[in-house]
Amino acid sequence: MGKRYYITTPIYYVNSTPHIGTALTTIVADACARFQKRRGQSVYFLTGTDENAPKVHRVAQERGIPTQQFVDEMAEVFARTWQALHIEYDVFIRTTEERHKRVVTEVFRRLRQQGDIYQGSYQGWYCVSCETFFASSKVGEARTCPDCGKPLEWRDEPCYYFRLSAYESRLKEHIAANPHFIEPEVRRNETLGFIAEGLQDVAVTRTGTDWGVPVPDEESGGVIYVWFDALLNYLTATGWLERDGDAYLDTWPPDLQLMGKDILPRFHATIWPAMLMALGLPLPLRLYGHGWFLVNQQKMSKSLGNVYAPLEVVQALSEASQCQQPVAVDAFRYYMLREMPTDSDTEFSLEGLETRYNGDLANDLGNLVHRTLSMMHRYFEGRVPEGVHVEEAVAVSLLQVSRQVAEAYEAVDYPRGLQQAWNLIGLINRYYEEQAPWSLAKAGEYGRAGRVLYAGLETIRTLCTLVEPVMPRVASEIARQLNLPAVPLWSDTEAVNRIPSGHTLQPPTPIFPRIPLR
Ligand code: MSP
Repeated sequence: MGKRYYITTPIYYVNSTPHIGTALTTIVADACARFQKRRGQSVYFLTGTDENAPKVHRVAQERGIPTQQFVDEMAEVFARTWQALHIEYDVFIRTTEERHKRVVTEVFRRLRQQGDIYQGSYQGWYCVSCETFFASSKVGEARTCPDCGKPLEWRDEPCYYFRLSAYESRLKEHIAANPHFIEPEVRRNETLGFIAEGLQDVAVTRTGTDWGVPVPDEESGGVIYVWFDALLNYLTATGWLERDGDAYLDTWPPDLQLMGKDILPRFHATIWPAMLMALGLPLPLRLYGHGWFLVNQQKMSKSLGNVYAPLEVVQALSEASQCQQPVAVDAFRYYMLREMPTDSDTEFSLEGLETRYNGDLANDLGNLVHRTLSMMHRYFEGRVPEGVHVEEAVAVSLLQVSRQVAEAYEAVDYPRGLQQAWNLIGLINRYYEEQAPWSLAKAGEYGRAGRVLYAGLETIRTLCTLVEPVMPRVASEIARQLNLPAVPLWSDTEAVNRIPSGHTLQPPTPIFPRIPLR
């Protein structure tokens, strides 16, 4: 068996519930996983929760709940939210699992043994919100976090360091030699900028808390720094240490690691590959960092009260439109990916979601499916007539656009891919207007009318595959109305004239009822 396509999301802190930011990374990963699956890859898709963080412990204490019970409840909330959003992950990892703690302990021991982790003491600033240490030189007069602006805490304690500085030149070389290692380009440049400032060794243990993985073989206590612990989840999930010999190599290394821009340069593109270099393990093939969703031009925050919960957004959409729940979920996924911040940040809004729903989904996609099937039933009793084929010009576009969309999805550029897929809808609508199959049928020219509508059917069959990674349940519904046994594979978009003469179609049912104007 060949290697599985291994795709990961960050593991989310469980001190707060899922919001549209964490949902974005997860939905992008799910679309990538589904796309690869339908292209015939065997996929291993990992997500999970980051539970050993001091801030998680702090919130549990504030609420007066035992921390373990709190993280159990919160992990459940994440898993259920992702399931409700049609996220088809293969593994949900939790860092409080014993198998993960064993990996973290073993890695710590190995690196200490070989001198990559050494004893020292730490004096400096710590941001609990970002779970990040900052050198005094990076901290201004106000003593607030250079990343999030919250007050920093002073730390003066014995600790262990990871020898990050030793990997500076190898990291630079790796990034230079592998242009796709960090994407998109702006993140790659940010990372190079970060490394160019000079890498300092990082503190990888903390004292004064017992929530976390204990520092091994150490009388004085302390726990392993949460980021050192958390990054290793990607390794734990492959069964490294647990399975025989090199068995984990059927999955390792990750093909695609997705995350937001905030946790890419320092953590995933510097500390993480350096840890793997120290362990002598192959590096991930691609790290992709998307931008942020803003609400009213600002970062979401509890204090501003502008945090959206994904399931509440879905609920609001399904109430406004009266569409089925799975359709509302898929419409939300469509919006998130169509508006996905790739290079720069973008605005998230409920109005924007409703506009995309009424425009792209109800008017464009839904209407195309509905009018095509209605005409097929009205003029051809729902049966594909004999001797039809797609006209050359339309056929060329179908093949070309499918390839372009696949390329865009491969590049994690969903806004571009979806825009291209929607170009097909525009094209076939113009073709209908020009050819007017309704007039042809009225004039008794059934041969020509059948050919035009057949082009419409083949376009819908193609679109069914193109939208599946983004809207899996809508794609199944379209396949059902076309009376296909399943959503066609990507290889099926490499040819036209696939629906045979005599094939019968289901009667059309509207998928996206319009949201009435208020
Ligand atoms: N626990 C760490 C990750 C450890 S991975 C080894 C963490 N967790 S998090 O809960 O804070 O979630 C981080 C993910 O959510 C990141 O990918 C981050 O970029 C994303 N987002 C959080 N808010 C966001 C927006 N407003 N917009 C888009 N994504 C954002 O960091």
